[in-house]
Amino acid sequence: MADHAQVSEARAMERLPERTQTQRLVLRRLTPEDEPVLGASVTASLEHLLPWFPWADHEPVSPDQRRQRIATWEQEWRAGGDLYCGVFLDGAHIGNIGLHRRGTADSIEIGYWLHVDHTGHGYITEASEALTTLAFEQPGIERVAIHHDRANVASGAVPRRLGFTLEREVTKELQAPGEDGVEFQWKMVRAAWATRLVRAPR
Ligand SMILES: CC(C)(COP(=O)(O)OP(=O)(O)OC[C@H]1O[C@@H](n2cnc3c(N)ncnc32)[C@H](O)[C@@H]1OP(=O)(O)O)[C@@H](O)C(=O)NCCC(=O)NCCS
Repeated sequence: MADHAQVSEARAMERLPERTQTQRLVLRRLTPEDEPVLGASVTASLEHLLPWFPWADHEPVSPDQRRQRIATWEQEWRAGGDLYCGVFLDGAHIGNIGLHRRGTADSIEIGYWLHVDHTGHGYITEASEALTTLAFEQPGIERVAIHHDRANVASGAVPRRLGFTLEREVTKELQAPGEDGVEFQWKMVRAAWATRLVRAPR
């Protein structure tokens, strides 16, 4: 039987990389010390998040609750699970992006939101492009997914811009007030990402 050190090492090898640099952005795993900047971004963006995220209905949470939530994300990541990154522009927090181990073992899903004052500059497209590349660098990952409600046109434009394929439309229970109950599921497969000849059109 593997000893504790071997198990810890194996888990550490499965951990998703905690920092990625793109042309304009740093994507960095959030830690409890990020609570004030995350809280400020969420609070400033509440109206913009409420239509799409059930959790936004419970915001703003207290600093302690938010630190606790980030600590839970940290534990998940340490165990080889999901990665929750802040998106930083010139050191300022402008949104979140995550890699989630939902669905089958060979797939990973990207989720995101931007601070309301930072939409319209291609930041989430740039961050999603980088995390798609990073996802395919992980052993065993063959598919990257992006899911959004059909009514969330801005969210759907991100995978479309990156050349993802709309694979399925699935009827779902409404979870947030902006939704119309049809989830669009986009996917990218490893081979298609590797053979992209040109960057996706902006
Ligand atoms: C979903 C969300 C992150 C998309 O934000 P966004 O700003 O539209 O996406 P990007 O940062 O990739 O920017 C794309 C926009 O910048 C423009 N742009 C400018 N420079 C660009 C560049 N270098 N590259 C790509 N796009 C660029 C694009 O034309 C596009 O503008 P348009 O919508 O007027 O066509 C944002 O709407 C959001 O936070 N929504 C609330 C939360 C949410 O719905 N999350 C997803 C749940 S599934």
